[in-house]
Order: sequence, then C-alpha cells, then structure tokens
Amino acid sequence: MTPTPPAAVMILAAGAGTRMKSATPKVLHRIAGRSLVAHALAAAAELDPGRTVVVVRHEREAVASHVTEVAPHVLVADQDHVPGTGSAVRCGLSTLDATTVAAAVAAGGADMAHLDSRIQGSIVVTSGDVPLVDGVLLSMLVEAHDAQGNAVTVLTARVPDATGYGRIVRDGSGAVTRIVEHKDASDAERAIAEINAGIYVFDAARLRDALAHLTTDNAQGELYLTDVLALAREAGGRVGALVAPDAAAVEGVNDRVQLANAGAALNRRIVEGWMRAGVTVVDPATTWIDADVTLDADVTLLPGTQLHGATRIGAGATVGPDTTLTDVEVGEGATVTRTHGSGSRIGARATVGPFSFLRPGTVLGDKGKIGAYVETKNATIGAHSKVPHLSYVGDATVGRHSNVGAGTIFVNYDGVTKSSSIVGDHVRIGSDNTLIAPVEIGDGAYTGAGAIIRHDVPAGALALNAVPQQVVDGWVERRRPGSPSAEAARAAQDADATRGLSSGAQEERAAAAADQEGEA
Ligand code: UD1
Ligand code: CA
Repeated sequence: MTPTPPAAVMILAAGAGTRMKSATPKVLHRIAGRSLVAHALAAAAELDPGRTVVVVRHEREAVASHVTEVAPHVLVADQDHVPGTGSAVRCGLSTLDATTVAAAVAAGGADMAHLDSRIQGSIVVTSGDVPLVDGVLLSMLVEAHDAQGNAVTVLTARVPDATGYGRIVRDGSGAVTRIVEHKDASDAERAIAEINAGIYVFDAARLRDALAHLTTDNAQGELYLTDVLALAREAGGRVGALVAPDAAAVEGVNDRVQLANAGAALNRRIVEGWMRAGVTVVDPATTWIDADVTLDADVTLLPGTQLHGATRIGAGATVGPDTTLTDVEVGEGATVTRTHGSGSRIGARATVGPFSFLRPGTVLGDKGKIGAYVETKNATIGAHSKVPHLSYVGDATVGRHSNVGAGTIFVNYDGVTKSSSIVGDHVRIGSDNTLIAPVEIGDGAYTGAGAIIRHDVPAGALALNAVPQQVVDGWVERRRPGSPSAEAARAAQDADATRGLSSGAQEERAAAAADQEGEA
C-alpha cells in the first residue's frame, strides 16, 4: 500500500566518506549497477514526493552532475561550511522553501516574503549511503508517521554492535525522548542496543522551528539533526519510532567491506525477487543481476551469470553458464552460453556461444547463430543466418538465411579508416574467407574456401580466387634430407611399396587358386 506522498524527500550526501579511501566520492560508488545515491533516489521516487533534494558539499561537482544525470528533476542543495547532519538539513530545507516560494510566486499566489508559501507537510530525510533502504521501508515509515500524527518519526534498529551509532533513549512508558550520539553517550546509554538508522519523517514546520534551536554544544562541535527529536518533543510535538524489521537493511556503507556486503545483500534480494517472479536461478550465489535488468517468466540463469545495465531477457531464454551481458536484449527462447556481450540484441530462439564475444552494435536475428570463438561488432546478422565458428564480423550487414564459413574475417580496418561490408540473403561464404571492406556480396552468391574477396560479388555468382594447388613430388626428401618429415615420407613410401607387393602376392595366390579350380 502506498501512503500519502510526502511533500519532499531530502537525501544527505555532503559527507566526505573518508573511510572509503577513494578518489571517488562515497555516494558514487556502485552496487547492482547503480551508484549508492542513485539507490537512494530510486527509493525516494517510489514515494512519489512533491520534490526531492540532494544535499551536497564534498566533491560537489561530481556528485551534483551525477545526481542531475540520473534524476534530472531533482534539486541540489549546497551545504554551507557548518558541519553536521543538522546543518545539512538546514541547507536542504532552505532550498526546498526557496523553490516552493518561487513556485507560488510564479503561480501569482504570493510575494517572496510570504512565509506561508514555504514547504509544508511531511519531509522524509534519508542518506545517500544506505542502498538497502528501499521504497517499501520508507513507505512504512511514512505510514507510521501519518497514522500516529507525529512531529518526527525515526527509523531505528536493534543491532548486535551499536558502536558509533546514535542511541535511541526512551522513557518509562517506552516513548522516544531523544537520541544521544555515541561520542556524547554515558556508559548506561552506550548499553542501549536500539540505534538511530539516520532516516526520518518530519513535519516541515516542526522541523524548521527545531533547526533554528540547534547548537554545536556537543562532543563533535557539529549541528546534530538528532537533537531535533528532543526539541520537537519539548515544543509539544509527538515523537515516534519504527523499528526496522531487518536491521541489516538500514546499515550504511562507510568502507569497502560494507560496500561489498551491501552489494551481496542487494543482489540476494534482486535474485530472490526474480525467482519469485518465475525465473529459474540454478546458483543464486554466483548469479549477479543489476537493479535495472528485466527478466521474463521461465528464463533460466545458469551458474556464473552476470546481467548488467539495461539487459532484458525474454521468456524461456537460457543464459549461462559463465556469461556476462551488459545492456543486451535477449529474445524469447534464445540460448546464450559462455558469452561476453554488451550493447547487443539477440533475436528470439537464436543461439550464441560458447565462447562468443559480442561487442556493441551486434544485432542477431531470430533463429540466428553466433557460434564458438566468434567476435562481432557493429554487425547485423539476419534471421536464420549463421556465423558458427572462429570468425570476426565487424561493421557488416548479413542478410537472412546466410552462412558464414568457419574462420572468416570481415576486414573492416585498413589502418586508417573503417569500412562496412554487406552480405545478402541465402549467401554461402566458404571457410576461411577474408572480406576486405567495403565489399558487397549479392543474394544467393557463393564464395570458395579461402577466398579473399576484394570486389563485389553479384547475386548468384561463385567467387573463387584461391591459388591453384601445386604439387612438387619428392621435395621433402630432396630439400630436407634426414629430417623427421623426410623419414615419415620415406616410411609412407615404404608402406605403399609393401602394400603394392602384398597385393601383388594376393593376386598371385588368387591366380594360383583359379588355376587349381581350373584343373579340378
Ligand atoms: C548519524 C546520526 C546517528 C546515526 C547515524 C546512522 C547525527 C548527528 N547522527 O551519524 O545518530 O546513528 O547517522 O548512520 O545525525 N552528512 C551531510 N553533511 C554533514 C554530515 C553528514 O550531508 O555535515 C550526511 C552524510 O553524507 C551521510 C549522512 O549525513 O549521508 C550521515 O552522516 P554520517 O557522518 O555517516 O553520520 P553520523 O554523524 O556518524
Ligand atoms: Ca554513517
């Protein structure tokens, strides 16, 4: 069930992420084919909020341009020099207010000073580094917030090791009174196992009031967003909490060990989701599926399959084992075995592999075949056409029902420019051909084995240019005397001679037998 859409979602992504020890900002590290912040944006989008704002500061340009690329309508707010999550939310809120007021002014409903035009309603605050928090969990939090009529609702979790987290302090009746940061906590407070996940729903007006009262009077000298809870309570607002059903899902990513753990957990969730949707996954542990991949019913994924980007697999297709596809569309009932492919389209009931390399721009028609040790690039291979063995097909168009013989190379590059070749329908290219682009082979044409095709071949013609075979008898014994080859040749000749002799002997015996019969 989807709750009432919040007025806004705010994603905090201004922190430095120093424990990643990376030149790449933490929120731009990727799992399941998306950056950490893109996971947060996807979860936010599921709430259908009025606005979404991402607060940035560290590596501002890189983060802001990525955010704008993956979610063009999202607002970007710059955190000022004041450190802390409270400061980040202040900056995010002032951007939301300014945008909302500007929209009201544009609609002719207010002047710039009209405070009632600032954002109101529920504001969800989440983090750019909690990729396992999805729209379902955020929706649960918004629902609890609405149902309880809270000023603040915080997501909490009970974890085995709470070190470093803010602790949830409750009163005798179990109501949340405040959050105390690890560094500020007493020993008794550090013994609390319920932690602040750092994800909240706020009533905008209550949040605005409380933010104005934050101080840096704490162990870290920062503005703590967590202090808003106690302030809202003092101001007469209700503070509620939702305990996350799965504590692991709210864990943030702070270093690369947690990044890999989060990646594995997210992959398990994605793989299980597809299995429940009717996909057979033989070995979930070695199957990796990005968040944006789509699979139809009765797809079978064999062990060691990795599906990345916008890959789509049609109903009944079998992929794997040991196959990596990135942005590849696989048609219904196709088979893709031990293949590495990207930016390609494979038709229905086509077969690919084993050991095929499909580079971007490969389009294989229905029931077509790209076989063992074949590399393709920017190549359209029509329906029912086959490139079964050991070939390179680059910058080419092959029609329907054609066959490209084993070991054929489409020579598309002369060292300076690339050129394209065209092969028609029902063509038979012999084995070990070299097609020097640009060249065109007409419908129904044949080429002989070993041909080097430099000129167009008209429809229905046979092109031959292999050198006629020359046989120089006895060359090896004359020019390589005493070599193993010469010895082998000698032995073969001797064997021939013996066979000649023995067949002569048989003839003699047969003749003798006939004589005897004649005498009888
Ligand atoms: C914060 C909470 C803590 C909670 C923990 C959950 C506060 C004071 N503490 O801890 O109670 O248990 O999250 O992970 O809020 N950020 C900014 N600007 C800043 C500082 C942080 O945007 O100036 C962002 C970070 O990029 C990150 C999020 O806020 O996305 C949390 O920051 P982090 O430093 O990891 O949280 P803590 O302060 O350790
Ligand atoms: Ca953190």
